[in-house]
Amino acid sequence: MAAVLRFYADIGVDAVVGETALDHFNAPAPITPVRENVTPLLRPQSLPTLQQGAPANDLADITTLADLRAALEAFDGCALKATATRLVFADGNPAAKVMLVGEAPGGDEDRQGLPFVGRAGQLLDLMLAAIGLDRTKVYITNVIAWRPPGNRTPTPAEIQSCLPFVTRHIELINPDVMVCLGNVSVQTLLKTREGITRARGQWFDYPLPGRNLPALAMLHPAFLLRSPAFKRQAWADLQALRAVLVKP
Ligand code: URA
Repeated sequence: MAAVLRFYADIGVDAVVGETALDHFNAPAPITPVRENVTPLLRPQSLPTLQQGAPANDLADITTLADLRAALEAFDGCALKATATRLVFADGNPAAKVMLVGEAPGGDEDRQGLPFVGRAGQLLDLMLAAIGLDRTKVYITNVIAWRPPGNRTPTPAEIQSCLPFVTRHIELINPDVMVCLGNVSVQTLLKTREGITRARGQWFDYPLPGRNLPALAMLHPAFLLRSPAFKRQAWADLQALRAVLVKP
């Protein structure tokens, strides 16, 4: 049984959608009762609208991290919320100069409710330590606050639904420097179509109200776990980050 569950988890089947299994290939065709001349009790326009939580442009009214978190908790506009165990909001020091933005929580993050606590997170901690940083000196969040099932890449629709929240998150933290980790974060926040292996090491201007925030594109630690040959480039990017941080 454990081996079967592990197999399911490995292929991305990790969310329970019902108590009993249903064989859709053998299921009888649903019987639709034919009822003529029946006036619908509810016309479509009188159906209650789905609670979508705070729409994007209302977020300007949110001025604290606690309120932003509460708005995300109340938001039902991203389908990933239904399969995730919990919201993964952020970790680290909200007053830090450096803000790191990853892609989306994985399994360990989904269980613990904190970003970058699994294997990729442990590598990230080592990378930060190499330039004298730790979680008391950085602030960490993700573009997406809920784990995609099986750790798949979030869809463009999922990314767009969460974008107003991460945008407001960056504005509230108002860091000196931002680091975007991996393709999703780089392409979403830095508005580039370049792939991460080309974009990495480049500095971008991220527009904040009233100023441009320097933002560095970096390889994602999960990518470095799969492709350790790229650690040399990651090291160069860390040095570039350190150089900016020690500049008087
Ligand atoms: N990968 C991410 O992008 N974010 C996490 O929090 C964990 C893994």
